[in-house]
Amino acid sequence: MIYITRREQFNAAHRLYRDDFSDEQNRKVFGKCSNPNWHGHNYTLFVTVRGHVNPETGFLVNLKDLSRIIQEQVVEYIDHKNLNVEVPFMKGRLASTENLAKAIWEQLETPVKTLGAELHCVKIYETENNIVDYFGE
Ligand code: NI
Repeated sequence: MIYITRREQFNAAHRLYRDDFSDEQNRKVFGKCSNPNWHGHNYTLFVTVRGHVNPETGFLVNLKDLSRIIQEQVVEYIDHKNLNVEVPFMKGRLASTENLAKAIWEQLETPVKTLGAELHCVKIYETENNIVDYFGE
């Protein structure tokens, strides 16, 4: 079994809040990320897939194909967008990095199989210091 990772970057706006919380509760729980006027992050996404090396090519997957799938299924929907209001696969979800990682997993799991690999990990750097890993369970 071998693992390979593709890095992609995107910028997006969000706000962490709950309608059923007061402004004060939202500030207390979500801090700066609850700013009512939105704010943005420069996110870095790492998508790791696993499988076996194709003896003909020496590749697990062609990284150009993996990159295209990530672009088509994820980046085109979220880059320079507001995660709370205009991203179909984030609808109804609190726009945390944890929930974003789970949603990205759902977007990629099936398409990655078409490359003959399995999705292994979705890792997102919201900032250099705040990092989420999701392994699908
Ligand atoms: Ni934030």
